[in-house]
Amino acid sequence: MASDLETVVDLLYLLVYLIQAVDNTVPSRPKPTKVTPLGLCFNSAPLIETAEFVGRNTEIENIHAVLRPDEARKEQKRVVLGGIGGIGKTQLAIAYARQYQQSYTSVLWLNAASESTLYASLLPVAQAISAEQTDLSTNEQVLAGVLKWLNRPDNARWLLVFDNYDEPDLFAINDFCPSVGHGSIIVTTRLPDLAKGKIVRVQPLQSIEDSLSILEIRSGRSGIQEDSSAKRLARRLSGFPLALVTAGAFLRKSTMTFEQYLDVYERKWNINPRRPLRLQDYQDRTLYTTWNLSYNRLRNEDPDAAQMLRLMAYFDNQNVWYDLLTAGLMDDLPEWLQTTLEDKTDFEGAMAVLVDYCLLEVQHTSQSYSMHSCVHDWTLSELNTTMSPELYWYAFNCVAKIIKNVDRDLFGYVKYNYVSRHARRLTHPRFETCDELEAGIVGREDKAMDIAQMLKEQVQLSAAEQIPHLDAHRGL
Ligand SMILES: Nc1ncnc2c1ncn2[C@@H]1O[C@H](COP(=O)(O)OP(=O)(O)O)[C@@H](O)[C@H]1O
Ligand SMILES: [Mg+2]
Repeated sequence: MASDLETVVDLLYLLVYLIQAVDNTVPSRPKPTKVTPLGLCFNSAPLIETAEFVGRNTEIENIHAVLRPDEARKEQKRVVLGGIGGIGKTQLAIAYARQYQQSYTSVLWLNAASESTLYASLLPVAQAISAEQTDLSTNEQVLAGVLKWLNRPDNARWLLVFDNYDEPDLFAINDFCPSVGHGSIIVTTRLPDLAKGKIVRVQPLQSIEDSLSILEIRSGRSGIQEDSSAKRLARRLSGFPLALVTAGAFLRKSTMTFEQYLDVYERKWNINPRRPLRLQDYQDRTLYTTWNLSYNRLRNEDPDAAQMLRLMAYFDNQNVWYDLLTAGLMDDLPEWLQTTLEDKTDFEGAMAVLVDYCLLEVQHTSQSYSMHSCVHDWTLSELNTTMSPELYWYAFNCVAKIIKNVDRDLFGYVKYNYVSRHARRLTHPRFETCDELEAGIVGREDKAMDIAQMLKEQVQLSAAEQIPHLDAHRGL
């Protein structure tokens, strides 16, 4: 009896052993995973508070009329928001996504300023949708992962926002679009005729009430809808949101009345003996005048913050972080640079002043700063009419130092895309043609080669060939 029992127990053990063996050797069929909706995925989008957004109801409805997900129509829908810089394309796209988020399971904001910014904004999406062990080191892996997910038939209600596609000759946006008959896409661009889709042209704000609302919100001065001088200022700024925001932010920091601001504005606008014809474009002139007023005030109120604004021209406008900005610190730098950057609290104080003036945006998720591309253009053309070799080579040292710690084999990896944007900035045509910068390359040839190598790996060959004055020294 006992031996019978032992046999049965042995048999049971054998059975368990066999079951385990089969379990371990026969691969079970992978269960199809359900699509996880990502909801609103704005990542590093330049968000403003919903309460700060004004008007644009007609445009939002026009966009929705084209994009509205419709089960019956098996096609991808696409809207192109076109208009000049600072007119409000990005904020309109964000406001639409916020207002109609219930129509979509996932909304992805992607920075389409360049290929590298696109890959960088796809990376967190790829990470969120992929299994933990998936390799996402390269741009190709990241893009393939996201496209596969967007192509899935059970993932049809997404909205992609390709923002700031302002250089369509550099790359084709279609390479980043899923080729399926579902999904909705918004492209924002200054050149809408070069992008495929239903064009919605974004115009200056039409109603004076909307302009006044922006001035009101940004200046923190209530009850201005009936104020005649506020109205005159609003009209003078012609419904350009970026100019209204800048003027409003200035007034929040000042005791000036609307009348006084308008007065100084008019004087700046009309009297510019040094460059009477340079800013031919009315919008540019409107914007530049508001920024110049803010800058003049900053120079008195917080000279270090004003200097930081100048320095920003030498870096890319996206994703500037503390460790990058301080990587080039060493002795013999101008005192303001040393004191502002050495202490993180001082640095953040100066940057906060620029944020208050609406000249800079904080990106809390990535702990970095960004600047609207129009403001960035102004920092180069107006605040650096004379190039500063000191600032240029400082920025160069910062980028080189960050790159130095990266293994060369990893230069092409997607996580270094933002570094490569800063590297690319160093090759801006203004720097390339500036003779005063030439001497600085001596002693920095190795660093320049590293930067050029990174740009090459990041598929920006032409930029790699243009590190200022490197060609002349290549034989050294
Ligand atoms: N409808 C709006 N209401 C309030 N502020 C706006 C609005 N549109 C734009 N802005 C302000 O103007 C700035 C520039 O707008 P943005 O959308 O970035 O312009 P674009 O993308 O056309 O260059 C924004 O940062 C925001 O502060
Ligand atoms: Mg934009």
